Amino acid sequence: MALIVPSILSADFAQLGEQVRAAQAGGADRLHVDVMDGRFVPNITVGPLVMEAVRRHTTLPLEAHLMIVEPERYVEDFARAGADLLIVHQEASPHLHRTIQRIQRLGKRAGVAINPATPLAMLQEILGDVDLVLCMTVNPGFSGQDFISGMLPKIERLRAMIQQHGARCDLEVDGGIQTQSAPVAVRAGANVLVAGSAVYGDADGAAAGIARLRAALA
Ligand code: DX5
Ligand code: ZN
Repeated sequence: MALIVPSILSADFAQLGEQVRAAQAGGADRLHVDVMDGRFVPNITVGPLVMEAVRRHTTLPLEAHLMIVEPERYVEDFARAGADLLIVHQEASPHLHRTIQRIQRLGKRAGVAINPATPLAMLQEILGDVDLVLCMTVNPGFSGQDFISGMLPKIERLRAMIQQHGARCDLEVDGGIQTQSAPVAVRAGANVLVAGSAVYGDADGAAAGIARLRAALA
């Protein structure tokens, strides 16, 4: 079964602790914190302080999705704030190999994300070194966007590439994951699904949103 990772970007930030606990109680596998700087992406969200606050309300593993320029400058801060997995964008880190090493030397898992327009070839030389590849299925910046179904063949090719390399990394997808897109993304080869609005936008609460996603995958 694919892992379900709620993104707190769609949560009610005025009640963040409660929203984090609701996702854990509802059976989330880990939690996703979207860090945006207004430069790599048009939006600005949260920093290590909020990661630290989330950490206090859950025992689940936390992932930091760093949508920021020069992510290498901040990996120590997010690791210290409680992130277990740090994901940097290939497009934002010219010395990606060094950044990945730095994260792993901190004792954390390291992931690399690519935008919809970035070719898989950009991962060729790093695939064997990372713990996770994040294939964006929307252009990063906002929750609630539509899943780009043109990414499905890319997910299939990425799964094949991981197998060819004998790599053991996770294949995560992020953006527009709903009950319709979740099963097709998994069929294409994803084994970790980030979901923002499908979880926190559910009128019956986060647990219901997670349950609906799991039912769609069954
Ligand atoms: C988008 C973020 C996503 C976002 C997903 O830039 O990286 O993690 O929160 O939200 P949904 O699931 O609503 O597309
Ligand atoms: Zn994200």
